Amino acid sequence: MAARIWIFSVAVALFLSFSSAQDLQIVNAERRIDLSSHIVKAFLTLKVENIGKDPAADMLLAFPPTQIKHLSMVQAMAITGKKKKKTYLPLDVKPTEQPDAPNDTGYFLVSFATPLTLGETVTLEVLYILTHSLEPFPSEIAQSESQLVYYRDSAVILSPYHIKQQTTFFKTPSARVESFTSVDPANRAGKEIKYGPYEDRASYSYAPVIVHFENNSPFAVVEELVREIEISHWGSLQITENYRLTHGGARHKGVFSRVDYQSRRSISGSSSFNALLAVLPPKVNSVYYRDDIGNISTSHLRTGFKKSELEFEPRYPLFGGWRATFIIGYRVPLEDYLFEAPDGRRYLNFTFGCPLVETIVNKLTIKVVLPEGSKDPSAVLPFTVNQDLQVKYSYLDIVGRTVVVLQKDNVVPTHNVPFQVYYTFKPIYMLAEPFMLVSAFFFVFVASLAYVHIDLNIVKK
Ligand SMILES: *[C@@H]1O[C@H](CO)[C@@H](O)[C@H](O)[C@H]1NC(C)=O
Ligand SMILES: *[C@@H]1O[C@H](CO)[C@@H](O)[C@H](O)[C@H]1NC(C)=O
Ligand SMILES: *[C@@H]1O[C@H](CO)[C@@H](O)[C@H](O)[C@H]1NC(C)=O
Repeated sequence: MAARIWIFSVAVALFLSFSSAQDLQIVNAERRIDLSSHIVKAFLTLKVENIGKDPAADMLLAFPPTQIKHLSMVQAMAITGKKKKKTYLPLDVKPTEQPDAPNDTGYFLVSFATPLTLGETVTLEVLYILTHSLEPFPSEIAQSESQLVYYRDSAVILSPYHIKQQTTFFKTPSARVESFTSVDPANRAGKEIKYGPYEDRASYSYAPVIVHFENNSPFAVVEELVREIEISHWGSLQITENYRLTHGGARHKGVFSRVDYQSRRSISGSSSFNALLAVLPPKVNSVYYRDDIGNISTSHLRTGFKKSELEFEPRYPLFGGWRATFIIGYRVPLEDYLFEAPDGRRYLNFTFGCPLVETIVNKLTIKVVLPEGSKDPSAVLPFTVNQDLQVKYSYLDIVGRTVVVLQKDNVVPTHNVPFQVYYTFKPIYMLAEPFMLVSAFFFVFVASLAYVHIDLNIVKK
């Protein structure tokens, strides 16, 4: 028993000495929450000071449980220098757990570039992105109605540290704000609601607020996207993308009037969308856009030096809860995306994420189909994804192709960054396909000779 208590107190002592929560304070915090689309972006500027005598190597960012499950990305950078000479240094951020987390608070751990000594300060810029965090209210609207949504947060920043001074700004898409919770001082000017400044808030302070405002931006949610990227050593990269898109806003109620929609677009169906924009790589060719019925002609492609843009329309406009499934396919020149690493391996360097602008992808699967005969594939990404290997057989394949499958949930445009798939390849396999073709021709030739021969025999009789 005594031993147990002893172990327990050692554990507590260890925890207290390693826990950094008591040793830091936030001197100044500014939070700007952008509510102008359906993807909520929060920019946090924190001036952090070490007030403990031990050097601090990292700090915690805290999130309420309601936000943790909608959190799509957290990034942090340290800023050094002033005004025009500012430099940004990306810091390592990873989810972490705290044994004493009050009220199911979720945490991310930010590692400083160099530990902070007593009295030293660092300025951090944090970006975090929330999906599915705007709740339509009313939850059902008619074709002619504008969409109103709720956003819930806290007027003060949730943090395990004392915050000396802080201010939060919410930016709404229009000046139409039905209501917002007041936490003195709070006020609104046009599209901006300001909470604070608040002085000396203790750790874990929380002040729930609800903002009720108009948001008619396209709530484009891809429930599932499967992108297949096929490498052919014969010169191109073939990309095929299967979309299951939905409008994630307030459900449409009543009947849909196309006449009303077309004649009075600005007032009828303001929460709907019918045009989509995909940002594709430069030099795309053989672009197609089709659904289950066939090719859809309402699309325009603009190719450019840095990117191409495909503007297209589903067969009907999408209102809340409506769905559209379609496929986009295109080719790009292989030499722009396939390289040789210094160690002799080959690698694909392509863009992760979804080409549709300002879209949330609930479930994204990227399948990289390697050339036949490729070995030892490995994927390199700046964030964690589920990885798997499959084998795909296509026309004329002997051993099948290795497919690297990358899967990630809750994807936003910030995830559209380069990723690499490395693999080894023996050029002898490049001869496999022509060899199969030649063999096939030869077989047909022999078969037809035999047939002709038989035929002649019959004639002779
Ligand atoms: C936990 O939540 C309750 C109810 O919302 C609140 O009263 C309490 O202060 C919270 N505790 C902490 C430590 O944040
Ligand atoms: C659809 O478009 C593709 C590419 O433009 C074309 O090859 C194909 O023949 C078209 N199919 C139909 C059914 O029109
Ligand atoms: C991948 O491509 C991007 C630009 O598209 C480039 O900045 C990056 O350095 C490339 N990465 C590798 C490993 O080649």
